This record gives sequence, C-alpha cells and structure tokens, in this order.
Amino acid sequence: MGEKKPVPAHVAVIMDGNGRWAELRGLSKLEGHHAGMDSMKEIIKKADAMGVQYLTVYAFSTENWKRSREEVGGIFELLVKYMAIELKEMDEKNMKVNIFGDWQHRLPEDAIEAVRDAVVTTGNNTGLVFNICLNYGSRDEIVRAFNKLLSEGRTEVTAEDISRALYSGEENGNVPDPDLIIRTSGEERLSNFLLWQAAYSEFAFTDTLWPDFTPEEFESIVEEYRTRERRYGGR
Ligand code: IPE
Ligand code: IPE
Ligand code: MG
Repeated sequence: MGEKKPVPAHVAVIMDGNGRWAELRGLSKLEGHHAGMDSMKEIIKKADAMGVQYLTVYAFSTENWKRSREEVGGIFELLVKYMAIELKEMDEKNMKVNIFGDWQHRLPEDAIEAVRDAVVTTGNNTGLVFNICLNYGSRDEIVRAFNKLLSEGRTEVTAEDISRALYSGEENGNVPDPDLIIRTSGEERLSNFLLWQAAYSEFAFTDTLWPDFTPEEFESIVEEYRTRERRYGGR
C-alpha cells in the first residue's frame, strides 16, 4: 500500500470500438478506423513521455479477415498512409517499430512495403519499442513457435524456449511480457491476443470507444496500475 510502483515497462492495448464509434455518429466504419489511428498517434506519444519502454497495439487480428473486403482494404490503406506520415517522426524520436504477426503474407503489397520500411528504418533505434500486431493471432504465434522449435530438432522444450520462439521473442529483441493490458469499448476478453505472454499481466477495461480514448485516460489507467499489488502466486 501507499508507495507507488514504477511505470509499467510494457503496456499492451486492444484498440476496440472503432465500428461502434462510427455507427453512433452515422459515419462509415472506415471513418471510425481513421479516428482510431488518430487516437493511436496520441497514445504512442503519451506512453513515450511517461517512460513506458514497450507499447504493443493490436491493430489487425488473424480473425479480422472475416470482415468485408472493403473494410479490410481500407484498414491497410490507412496503415500505409499512417506510416507515410508518421515514420519520420517516430524515427526522429528514436522509436523502434516491430511487427508481431504474419505480415509478410496476405497483406496488400503496399502495406508489406510500408511495414518493411518502418522496421528497417527504425531497426537500430533504442527508444520506445512500438510493437504493431498485424495479421496477429496468439494461437498462430504459439503454433508457429512450436514448429520452429521442432524444425530445430527439439524433442523437448522449456518455457524459455517457447518465449524466445514467439513473435515477441528473439526475432523482435525479446520483448518482456506485458505488465498491463488495456482493452477499450467495454469488451472484456483477449480475442486471441498475447495468450502466453499475459500469464501475469494486469488488466484494465474501459467502456470508452477507442477513437474517444485520450492520453489523459491512458495516464489515469497507468496511475491506477501503479497502486496495484502484483503477487505472482507468492502470497
Ligand atoms: C477495432 O475496432 C479495430 C479492429 C478490430 C481492426 P472494431 O472495428 O472492432 O470496432 P467495433 O468493435 O466493431 O466497435
Ligand atoms: C480485437 O478486436 C482485435 C483488434 C482490436 C485488432 P475484435 O473487435 O476483432 O474482437 P472481437 O471480435 O470483438 O472479439
Ligand atoms: Mg471490435
């Protein structure tokens, strides 16, 4: 009690509610995703300013392909535009972009290019690590990790081996497990996000729809997290 804990090293965010936000305003879903991108920009800056070292955002899941072609195409178009505008600033701020997910396949060609450019450009940066989950599914990630270990000839694995073989592992600089996972829009589920990594994460749910989520709310959630007692089964 009393003493505030440190700022979480790793915050992960399930950015949900763009569709409902748009619907409430009589706008198209894509306008909702556009507004969601604006929220994301602000949250990256806020997280960086607060001293968060790793920020992971769930941008597109392996299940999101079930949506209309129009919506899916629009989301990736927004991503390409976002990168074109924001990459320079992220690089100047020494941020490092990682992608979690099977991004080299299935994404539109220009999105693959934009993502590759971001990863390569920021590869040696040492500031905030910004992990974007694209065509990401946690079960996919775990299956892929096992297959990777099997292909190395392993017949037995440890928990550390599995962690290292995930997207969050060696290939992206061994990102520590998230301390805090935030989900917006009132939904209280993981939706195939970081199942392995969330073993001891703290959760925060808010009814705010993602496009309405502000840096102030982010800060207040982080401050509330800092009052929590994490036990890890020890007591
Ligand atoms: C989250 O917003 C963004 C993605 C899943 C790409 P949604 O589009 O899921 O918004 P709701 O849940 O329909 O309101
Ligand atoms: C989770 O949101 C995925 C992203 C935020 C990218 P969804 O809107 O796809 O999840 P469900 O369908 O409500 O579980
Ligand atoms: Mg949703």
